[in-house]
Amino acid sequence: MEEKIQLLKKELLEKFDSVKTMQELNDLKVQYQGKKGIITELNSGIKDVPAEEKKEYGMQVNVLREAFNTGYETIKTRLEEEAVNRKLKEETIDISLPSVKNMRGSKHPFNRIIEEVEDLFVSMGYDVVDGPELEDDEHCFRLLNYTVGHPARDAQDTFYIDEEYLLRTQTSASQSRVMQANTEKSPIRVICPGKTYRRDDDATHSHQFGQVEGLVIDKNISLADLKGTLEIFAKKLLGEETKVRFRPSYFPFTSPSCEVDVTCFKCGGKGCPLCKKTGWIELLGAGMVHPNVLRMGGYDPDKFTGFAFGTGLDRLAMFRYAIPDIRYMYTNDIRFLKQFDETDVENV
Ligand code: PHE
Repeated sequence: MEEKIQLLKKELLEKFDSVKTMQELNDLKVQYQGKKGIITELNSGIKDVPAEEKKEYGMQVNVLREAFNTGYETIKTRLEEEAVNRKLKEETIDISLPSVKNMRGSKHPFNRIIEEVEDLFVSMGYDVVDGPELEDDEHCFRLLNYTVGHPARDAQDTFYIDEEYLLRTQTSASQSRVMQANTEKSPIRVICPGKTYRRDDDATHSHQFGQVEGLVIDKNISLADLKGTLEIFAKKLLGEETKVRFRPSYFPFTSPSCEVDVTCFKCGGKGCPLCKKTGWIELLGAGMVHPNVLRMGGYDPDKFTGFAFGTGLDRLAMFRYAIPDIRYMYTNDIRFLKQFDETDVENV
């Protein structure tokens, strides 16, 4: 019996040696442990063995069973590991391959300056409001104290849709809208950035440009508040060393009115070709809200006062980012636009 078992064991081990797949291993299991398997049959053969040999017989069958079980488990584990390794190898990504380049755009300086201005004024408690680019004469002019035929309209010719509708010439149009919309007639503190249009066709003016308007209405607002606000505006955007200068001017919807200059960002006020050797560059128009405008907006000029200012966003972007020619803003030269990558602007 022992010899027979040894022979069977040898045969089994040889079979194990040639197993290459899970299928072959399972076939062996059927062959040895299935219903008619070699080990199963040996096991049931015990009933024909004389009683005194049963123990020895049983032990010998066990030797073969153990050999099978050990071999089976070892090979199963090996085959499984091989399968995992094969899969890992097949799915390997070669991370040393150069990646597909992602083209990342940058924010246009026009949008960037709007965001900077908005951040600054929002931090001072202002709301940002939007106004329509297609305006009516009433909001763009009449409610701002430009009566019909007012000579100040000449400087703001624009594109007319019909007698009443036009492309707004100034974001000041939003002043009248904001006052009108505030039915409670409560204090106002807003800025309104956006596009504006004029019938300009010379080399230094574009028919479309950007402005940002500021409007504050409250009790006891004075020229000192306007001066302080604009000084902060200039210093925060153009640098702490920037100085501001106020010159008297005229706008129909403000009184008194002024033009505000800042020291030239290029020469620091010494005088250079950019500032035409004056050391100053004109930044914006401003003034105290005219009583007529307050009244037409539903505010009692005896109780409320206010200030307004308006500046060109394209010019402001030029000063802020040291852009030498305003036409760069419109010609979409990728080499220019690329310089406004998120990371770069802090350094200009
Ligand atoms: N809207 C004026 C312009 O376009 C600027 C301005 C705004 C002046 C607000 C005074 C107050 O020239």
